[in-house]
Amino acid sequence: PQVTFSDDNSRVTAVLPTGESVEVLLYGATVISWKSGDGTEKLWLSEAAKLDGTRAVRGGIPLVFPVFGTAPDHAQTAKLPQHGFARTSRWEFLGKSSSESAPGSAAADLSVKLDFGLSSANLDPSARALWPFQFGLIYTVYLNRDSLTTSLVVTNDDDKPFDCQVLLHTYLRVKDITAVEISGLAGASYVDKVDGAKTKTQSSALTITGETDRVYSPAGDAAVIVTEGGAKVFTVTRDNLGNVVVWNPWTDKAAGMADFAPNDGFKNMVCVEPGSVSGWQTLEPGDAFEGAQTITLSS
Ligand code: BG6
Repeated sequence: PQVTFSDDNSRVTAVLPTGESVEVLLYGATVISWKSGDGTEKLWLSEAAKLDGTRAVRGGIPLVFPVFGTAPDHAQTAKLPQHGFARTSRWEFLGKSSSESAPGSAAADLSVKLDFGLSSANLDPSARALWPFQFGLIYTVYLNRDSLTTSLVVTNDDDKPFDCQVLLHTYLRVKDITAVEISGLAGASYVDKVDGAKTKTQSSALTITGETDRVYSPAGDAAVIVTEGGAKVFTVTRDNLGNVVVWNPWTDKAAGMADFAPNDGFKNMVCVEPGSVSGWQTLEPGDAFEGAQTITLSS
């Protein structure tokens, strides 16, 4: 048994012999599906998401670069649209590789790695005009039996420094948001975007009972754990990403988004988004920044 690939010049799919699969749109290098071996979808994707390159994908894992939200007061990125251009640019598929997790291990332990690239050279001229720096992005999607890792490397290929923010805008699929608890953030300070951007401290595990939009800055790199009805479903670990955004639009915001369907889909998702978004990563010419997340399934 081998890993099965398909690449139709608009999306790349990989399926492990044990059934786990991942599907990545070249538009935005957006992961739009991640299934466990029994075929259960682990990411939420709106039924009205545009997958034809006309707008950022509502669901999956859109990539946020080089600005999180908008930054009207930050001259370098002030002209960019919300969440930058990475999620709305067509990326190149750089290649695939599959490997066994240990020498001589069974086919059941095969894993797969998909690499995608975006650079100023293949950026749309309109996007390049809004952010005139030479850069390179390499995005790696790594799937094994019980986890998905996505990793972004940013390089400054210019002769002047630039500032950037990155975020992996992951829409996790849940069965019932009212049964969800998010732990691992207790003690962390956060900016509450639905309460006048006040800075607060998370006292205990988080439940979602209304519109939630928070930028956490945990002191350490403890895993964020998502449970449902007390059972662990996802463990999200971060590598070199100091922030975690937790977002759920709830009723009114969801109803107000044309590409969010069904309207009550907010009950089946929560965004847990590792990133580096409070402040800026300043990259000197030749420098690189790398950040990654790993989402591990339980059960
Ligand atoms: C989150 C932001 O990361 O993304 C929210 O914190 C925002 O403020 C959400 O509403 C969705 O953004 P967009 O541009 O995909 O609608």
